Amino acid sequence: MTNKSGYKGRILGIETSCDDTCISLIETKDNQPSFKVLSNIISSQEKLHKRWGGIYPTLARREHQKNLTPILKKTLVDSKLEKKLKKKNSQPFDHFLEKDLINYKKLDSYLRSIEKPEIDAIAVTIGPGLDPSLWTGINFAKTLASCWQIPIIPINHIEAHLIISLFSFKDNLLKFTDQEILPAVALIVSGGHTQLLLMKEIGKYKMLGETRDDAAGECFDKTARILGLGYPGGPEISKKAAQWEKKRDVNDKEFLPRPMLHSKDLDFSFSGLKTAVLYKDQSVKKRTKDYLESMAYEIEESIVDVLIKKSLIALKQNDSQTLIIGGGVTANRKLRKKLNELDDVRVIMPEPGTETDNALMISVTAFFKEPQKIEEIKAQPNLNLR
Ligand code: KG4
Ligand code: ZN
Repeated sequence: MTNKSGYKGRILGIETSCDDTCISLIETKDNQPSFKVLSNIISSQEKLHKRWGGIYPTLARREHQKNLTPILKKTLVDSKLEKKLKKKNSQPFDHFLEKDLINYKKLDSYLRSIEKPEIDAIAVTIGPGLDPSLWTGINFAKTLASCWQIPIIPINHIEAHLIISLFSFKDNLLKFTDQEILPAVALIVSGGHTQLLLMKEIGKYKMLGETRDDAAGECFDKTARILGLGYPGGPEISKKAAQWEKKRDVNDKEFLPRPMLHSKDLDFSFSGLKTAVLYKDQSVKKRTKDYLESMAYEIEESIVDVLIKKSLIALKQNDSQTLIIGGGVTANRKLRKKLNELDDVRVIMPEPGTETDNALMISVTAFFKEPQKIEEIKAQPNLNLR
């Protein structure tokens, strides 16, 4: 297990690929993948987007612009690294925020008011994600790297979702679980992605299958919206499903499709499920409590059934007994329960609280990656794993 970036010490992670603004700070000791988490802030835009029932890119960018500097300040204060200067620093440094004046002024004046903190590298998400959101975080990270003269490490958001699963908390440290688990099959299930991969080693992947239309998380979000439930849809559907589970008759029949459950390949499709929910919803006169709960139960069952069935095929085809899961949907209670009940499969899951978007996974992944020249770092909205 190597630290490719060749630094020891503290890594600041920045994640703005979608609608959450996240900054984290970890400290690594003895050059080992074992970290003390000094700070991990997630500022969620949920309430804002709830009003619209989805994510609006320009709105998301504006929120990142507003949030980044205050969150950076809170990170430094919480980890006791903020040292105020008596006289403002007037040294020139490169700004990458000229087109982003809200952020520029706030960050410039803050950086000039503090001493260079004891941070050794900056990690930032470069994709996949929304282009304006990604650039906001990248330009912010570049400005810090240039002001503090420290390396910057570009990170793939999807890879970070998988790598954080390889870590668990022990004795107050976030530790690498087991060096021997790779190669393994990986299932990534988030709001934007649903993919099965073969993870040969950290940094080496082979795509086995992916969704042909909506991602699993997107299906939770869209069906929740059809049913008039809140955003994000996953937790809302899951809550209602749990209510129904207590009441339902075990002989109740399935009434929503399990798309592509029996197809031989490892691809997914969730838009048919969404359409089935829409038609069903249009046919009911009134959305009763029982109706909503039973629908939620079926939606969750359908998505979880398909995810597990395809993962099992992938394991078999690749002669593997280890499944690594990552992404927001892995917070799903039913998915975790059913995966834990599988015989002969070791399932590696992210620690509770690290499933949905966060910057901790960005800092941690940076340990395994190399820095890149500042001018070469660009947003890559469609970045893939390979
Ligand atoms: O990984 P993530 O935070 O963001 C992306 O990279 O997309 O995943 C967000 C997705 C959303 O679609 C949300 O509805 C889903 O994860 N999600 C859940 C649960 N918690 C979040 N889906 C099902 N059950 C949950 N408990
Ligand atoms: Zn994500």
